[in-house]
Amino acid sequence: MKFEVTEHPNPTSGERIAEILQNPGFGTNFTDHTTVVDWSADAGWQDARIEPYGPITLDPAASVLHYASEIFEGMKAYLHADGSVYTFRPFANAARMNASARRMALPEIDEELFVQSLEVLVAKDKAWVPASDGEALYLRPFMFGTEAFLGVRPSQTVTYRVIASPAGNFFGGELKPVKIWVSRDYVRAAPGGTGAAKTGGNYAGSLAAQAQAAEKGCQQVLFLDPLHENAIEELGGMNVFLVTNDGCLLTPELTGTILEGVTRSSIIQLAKDRGLTVEERRVGLEEWAKGAADGTIVEAFACGTAAVVTPIGELLDGDQTITMTGDFSTTLALREELLGIQTGKVEDRHGWLH
Ligand code: COI
Repeated sequence: MKFEVTEHPNPTSGERIAEILQNPGFGTNFTDHTTVVDWSADAGWQDARIEPYGPITLDPAASVLHYASEIFEGMKAYLHADGSVYTFRPFANAARMNASARRMALPEIDEELFVQSLEVLVAKDKAWVPASDGEALYLRPFMFGTEAFLGVRPSQTVTYRVIASPAGNFFGGELKPVKIWVSRDYVRAAPGGTGAAKTGGNYAGSLAAQAQAAEKGCQQVLFLDPLHENAIEELGGMNVFLVTNDGCLLTPELTGTILEGVTRSSIIQLAKDRGLTVEERRVGLEEWAKGAADGTIVEAFACGTAAVVTPIGELLDGDQTITMTGDFSTTLALREELLGIQTGKVEDRHGWLH
């Protein structure tokens, strides 16, 4: 599809972009343009365009504002030494967006159009891609129902957009092990629910638990599955892995209640490439606590596009603390290899770059 381009009338100066890229933080600064494609039940996807970034107009009765008809993706574009810019496994994000669309009764988008929507935005706002290690241009594709109708049914009009934001460490500052709060008051998802969809409501639903975590000095919350003996599920916005003292990675299996992370699946592949065993299975919180105490589970980490791979130092469960005693050598080696591939410093042997 051809994207019509409307240039930003007053683009950000090179000096201001350089200032932002000095310390990008996460999710606070946005590039000058946004990709937009509209959909209607009658006409399908149409009117692909690049517009100046700015506020959008919605009817107060728009479906997204009442019934949360919304899905999104998270991915990054990386600057390579030769000045080229690559995204990482964008077709995996396209497939996941369509899986979310099916669950949330939103229209699927052609995978090629999805990837093209990223390409045109990155090409337009290339000056915003940070160059420092561990930094990238975060891309946020999202889709929402715009139809003005309060009857509850799938929206007959939908908008798809991509915005872009220079990103450093999601947790702020230098990389260091994070503290996680175990949520005993709230669950994130249940069988048959929307847990596997990347939909805004899952994140809104995590915020009360996330606020408790913050009160306890924790950066993220861990959700459990109380129906299965408190099996660990995922964090507020990222997947979770444990590392045993005999070189095995444990991570919750995909049962439909957790998000199928692109970073998660890449880490599983990289771990297998290193000869590590990876067990995708139910892992009880008790197994984690016991393993940490007897020295059989030595490392834990969070992973996601935003979080990359971040060591978990402590888990707070009420007044109990589970402390990881390992040196995070496996966690950091996987992080470095993943970032190496993404930034073109390590051979892309799986053909993940685009
Ligand atoms: C991502 O990792 O891209 C996400 O969408 C998670 C969100 C908490 C930033």
